[in-house]
Amino acid sequence: MEGITDAPMRAVQTESGAFRFVVSEFLRVCNQAPPRKVFERHIPELGRGCVTPSGTPVQIQLLGGNAEALAQSAADAVSYGAQAIDLNFGCPAPTVNRHDGGATLLKYPHRIREIVSAVRRAVPQDIPVSAKLRLGWDSLDPILENAEQAALGGADWITIHGRTRQACYNPPIYWEPIGEVRKRLAPLPVVANGDIWTLEDFRRCREITGCEHYMLGRGALVDPYLAPRVAQELGIATAPVNAPFGKDPKQWAAIFSRFEFHTEQRPDRAVHVARRIKQWTRFASIYGPLDWMDRIKRLDTYETIHSELVA
Ligand SMILES: Cc1cc2nc3c(=O)[nH]c(=O)nc-3n(C[C@H](O)[C@H](O)[C@H](O)COP(=O)(O)O)c2cc1C
Repeated sequence: MEGITDAPMRAVQTESGAFRFVVSEFLRVCNQAPPRKVFERHIPELGRGCVTPSGTPVQIQLLGGNAEALAQSAADAVSYGAQAIDLNFGCPAPTVNRHDGGATLLKYPHRIREIVSAVRRAVPQDIPVSAKLRLGWDSLDPILENAEQAALGGADWITIHGRTRQACYNPPIYWEPIGEVRKRLAPLPVVANGDIWTLEDFRRCREITGCEHYMLGRGALVDPYLAPRVAQELGIATAPVNAPFGKDPKQWAAIFSRFEFHTEQRPDRAVHVARRIKQWTRFASIYGPLDWMDRIKRLDTYETIHSELVA
């Protein structure tokens, strides 16, 4: 998730062992492959086996509409250490879409196939290439053809966010078409995504889609215990977690301290971490304010926020 799931967030989220893999924020590719330093800044794990500190693989996500440049970028990423490539056909941001990237491609099924197959050909066979799709630009039906084209292009799996581009992040979520794609493309793995906020949501999504694989986005930020609880239901061993994450500031202070721990040295580190904690807090309060939110609003270093939360 662009602007959110950077390397420290990926490190925190994978500590429980719940995620089989995580995906980088998208790296935008225009008409040529970005230089190596852009990859390394964006995905510092590249220099460390492309895994998070707890050993979870990080998939590199590329976004763009130029098949040749994407293929070159994917090949470059692999030469820098990437172990898997994901292609973004879902981003709804108007600037991205105006520049022929993200969800715009949903209007051109043949281009999805062309991009996936160019990238597939550019990287070794043992490097998975996957596609992240929304249901369509402004209707639900295109997903069947788009997913089929991604599969024909050689995608190793497909992740589907059950919304159109037009719906952006607004309700409702449509899980049914994800189930249809799963049936139609079996045995190709289909990863169901969208609006899994609670364990009950996960169970309903599983019932409707019949999928074996799930992607968690915002839900994992709102409730850091959600991923381990979902993983347990899927038979993935994690540290035992039984209850949802609460509103207790001390509990949040503990998780923020992991984020701080994983943040690299930089001149503005204390302020940067404070900013990220406040961003995370805004997400976490999506279902109602956390009563300590106001107390940290005007604090601008990690240390002052931490002291306030544990006081
Ligand atoms: C702030 C924000 C940034 C996102 N950035 C990306 C991204 O870089 N790549 C991507 O594939 N999806 C991105 N997404 C979409 C999520 O991956 C996910 O598909 C969507 O939020 C629905 O899943 P959720 O309800 O579990 O969050 C982003 C979503 C949000 C809210």
